[in-house]
Amino acid sequence: MTEVAGSSTAARQQAEPVVVRRLDYRPPDWLVDEVELCFWLDPRATRVQGRLRLRRADAGGTAPLRLHGGDQPLVRLCCDGAELASHAWQRDSDGLTLFGLPAACTLEIETELDPQANRALEGLYLSAGIFCTQCEAEGFRRILFFPDRPDVLARYTTTLIADERLPVLLANGNLVASGPLADGRHFARWHDPFPKPSYLFALVAGELVCRERPYRTLSGRSVQLQIYVEPRNAALCDHALASLERAMRWDEQRFGLEYDLERYMVVAVDDFNMGAMENKGLNVFNSKYVLACPATATDDDYLDIEGVIAHEYFHNWTGNRITCRDWFQLSLKEGLTVFRDQEFSADMHSAAIKRIEEVRLLQTQQFAEDAGPTAHPVRPDSYVEINNFYTMTVYHKGAELVRLLQTLLGWEDFVRGMRLYVERHDGQAVTTDDFVAAVLDANPQAGIDRELFSRWYSQAGTPLLRLSWQQDAAAGQWRLHCRQSCPPTPGQEHKQPVLIPLRLALLDASGRPCGLRLAGETEAGAPERVLRLTAAEQEFTFVDLPGEVTPSLLRGFSAPVRLEAPLTREQQAFLMAHDSDAFNRWQAAQALLLQALLAGLKAPEGGAGELADSLLLEAFHHSLTDQTADPALLALALTLPTEGYIADQLPGAVDPARVHQVREKLRGQLATRLNDALLICYRQQQDAGPYVFSGPALARRRLKNLCLTYLARSPAEEARDLLWQQARHSDNMTDTAAAMALLAETPDVAVDELLQTFYQRWRHQPLVIDKWLAWQARSQRPDCLARLCRLLEDPAFSLTNPNRVRALIGTFCQANPYHFHAADGSGYRFLEQQLCAIDGFNPQVAARLVLPLLRWPRFEPGRRVLMLAVLQRLAARQPLSRDLYEMVQRALA
Ligand code: PHE
Ligand code: ZN
Repeated sequence: MTEVAGSSTAARQQAEPVVVRRLDYRPPDWLVDEVELCFWLDPRATRVQGRLRLRRADAGGTAPLRLHGGDQPLVRLCCDGAELASHAWQRDSDGLTLFGLPAACTLEIETELDPQANRALEGLYLSAGIFCTQCEAEGFRRILFFPDRPDVLARYTTTLIADERLPVLLANGNLVASGPLADGRHFARWHDPFPKPSYLFALVAGELVCRERPYRTLSGRSVQLQIYVEPRNAALCDHALASLERAMRWDEQRFGLEYDLERYMVVAVDDFNMGAMENKGLNVFNSKYVLACPATATDDDYLDIEGVIAHEYFHNWTGNRITCRDWFQLSLKEGLTVFRDQEFSADMHSAAIKRIEEVRLLQTQQFAEDAGPTAHPVRPDSYVEINNFYTMTVYHKGAELVRLLQTLLGWEDFVRGMRLYVERHDGQAVTTDDFVAAVLDANPQAGIDRELFSRWYSQAGTPLLRLSWQQDAAAGQWRLHCRQSCPPTPGQEHKQPVLIPLRLALLDASGRPCGLRLAGETEAGAPERVLRLTAAEQEFTFVDLPGEVTPSLLRGFSAPVRLEAPLTREQQAFLMAHDSDAFNRWQAAQALLLQALLAGLKAPEGGAGELADSLLLEAFHHSLTDQTADPALLALALTLPTEGYIADQLPGAVDPARVHQVREKLRGQLATRLNDALLICYRQQQDAGPYVFSGPALARRRLKNLCLTYLARSPAEEARDLLWQQARHSDNMTDTAAAMALLAETPDVAVDELLQTFYQRWRHQPLVIDKWLAWQARSQRPDCLARLCRLLEDPAFSLTNPNRVRALIGTFCQANPYHFHAADGSGYRFLEQQLCAIDGFNPQVAARLVLPLLRWPRFEPGRRVLMLAVLQRLAARQPLSRDLYEMVQRALA
């Protein structure tokens, strides 16, 4: 192919990475009203033609037109039918600049792509023979030269042309025409009536089957729901389809939001960098979040599928109809949509359990991000590579900020805020400030200080909330002292106070919440209140209390802060048993476990004796024998904190080997001391019948499998038999996986045989193989790393598939701190080698894998030096992707 020569074509060199800054935002000079695209699909040479109807945003403007682009060739470039003269345009390393265009014109651009060579999985690529696209954040420019920014909204018409090997041809919107062509090929034309940014463009083509069902919206419109998968997966779509239907109904009922096209399509592909993508009317999903049956998917997989299907569906309003002005506003759509999917899942199942799981994620991962070199505000101020900002902070802290609004307003008033947001901004590209303004403007009665609230978006770091109190039981008074602060983060030395809603109750000796009346108030108080903390220090005095009280603080985790409160172990045990707030019962249980672990870590020999004191043993025993509690809640309460989370709580430098040793010790002690109660509890929770995916059945499996994690460390033979029995004979993946993961923890020839049998049975099911890889990657066995190196060569593994990479390499580096942080540096070198290989073709995946290395400052000197050396070698590498470059630079800054 020949490239059109521009007289002034600049050499396309690898430019120095450019920093993009939020405050540099300027509205677009040029707008695109209509886009017509035509694709002649071919694995090695796909021809793309684009016709853009353009006009100047400001008719009197003079700015040239900027089109972003990748390194695809430019085959043709015409304006209003005539080829553009070579002096009228210029190409550089990331696009084209066009000069002297009429204020309104039609541009025709033609290019050619090689989807088969695309292993970055951005733009147009092939996954197992299926053509698909991924355009968020800046992938569309790898398909066509275009103003690839989210504030340029256009109407798209897309025509796909292919031969009979690609019978299914899909794109955004509604199907307007299709049929055979004279040359034996066939075509399909799609039109999306809703203006959208280029990042929401999608096409899919392949040999796919469709599982579908009709849906009627509350207002009576009919929509066809369709899930497209490879033929071999046709039987695995029921759960996803049912989840989609539930999500649509829920959004209608909760927020009054309905779907807006004739059909809603979901396509499952095996090669995908992320979880799923909300392209308008045509979601593309990682097959992990679509395919399920009891034999291959666990309960958690079922829940994840429901949650991700809902998440992408909810984006249709929060993301697509109302989109982001620029990528600094990413949390506008992601934080809000995560919040919405959390609320949905809470309504489908148990709200308490959903909340605990979210907070656990936040506390283990987002807090760690906030405490490290990649800390950034929910609304960042600058980036080098936007793909690096799809983070826990933007997604999950962002969701917490939306939740803060709901907590402060109550959910009915929050819904009113959402309605105003949609009414005001439908069809626009807006900012997180616009969102907050709409929600608060709808609720002037709430008296929320916008400025104070908005600091949550602009300040990085996890606020620390220190509470202390004095009790005068005789006078019936309890005085609470609150101090908030926030540690410095890169680029932000000093922080200001934020608006913290503190939900609390005061429990009497029997665990009942007392009426809460503040000094000076006249009315009898509610049993629970939300205090608004607005300053660095504040005091509240509660009066008319019946005597001694135990505070239940930050109920439901009413704000994403670290809480320091002088609760005694006896008070924690009391809260664990009696708090009417399920979240705080869990938090108290975790606090007791954490205290035991930290005490062991402080003791010189890792605590030579017992780590589990009688208070902890009794609390555990009480829980295991409690016939009234929700088994799923008990399972969460009795789960040991992860090694990573324990390490994060240590004041000084971390020695991961000791953390591992102490945690294993406590696990073993609990297993031995509570062996009988664990066995009884296990048997009680066992289901006689076949697998069903229902709340109660799921809760029983969780508690049963929690018991198993301890029983795997019990010296009793009966415990061992149970474990093997479950691994060999369970009829569902939830139970099989729980047992297999535990067996795989330690070396044993019989286990190796079992793993081998499992492999033979499932080796053609990649999603099941991911589990098999992850068990081995998480193992404590001494030969773990050597085995992983062999697995890299296994035909079931592939370095180009992100799911395989995450299962093997990601699990090892994130969930196996014991081996990843091996004192000889072997784990770090392993990661270094894989990063060097992967960065060459998939920078997004590489930039995520490197995260555990960036936490080097937290470790003891020996490890720190080894980690730093790897980072320095990476920094010196040529070539190095912009993605990995930015991550490594931040760690070395
Ligand atoms: N926007 C996707 C979501 O729903 C995530 C995503 C980002 C997918 C970038 C692909 C690429 O959260
Ligand atoms: Zn999303």
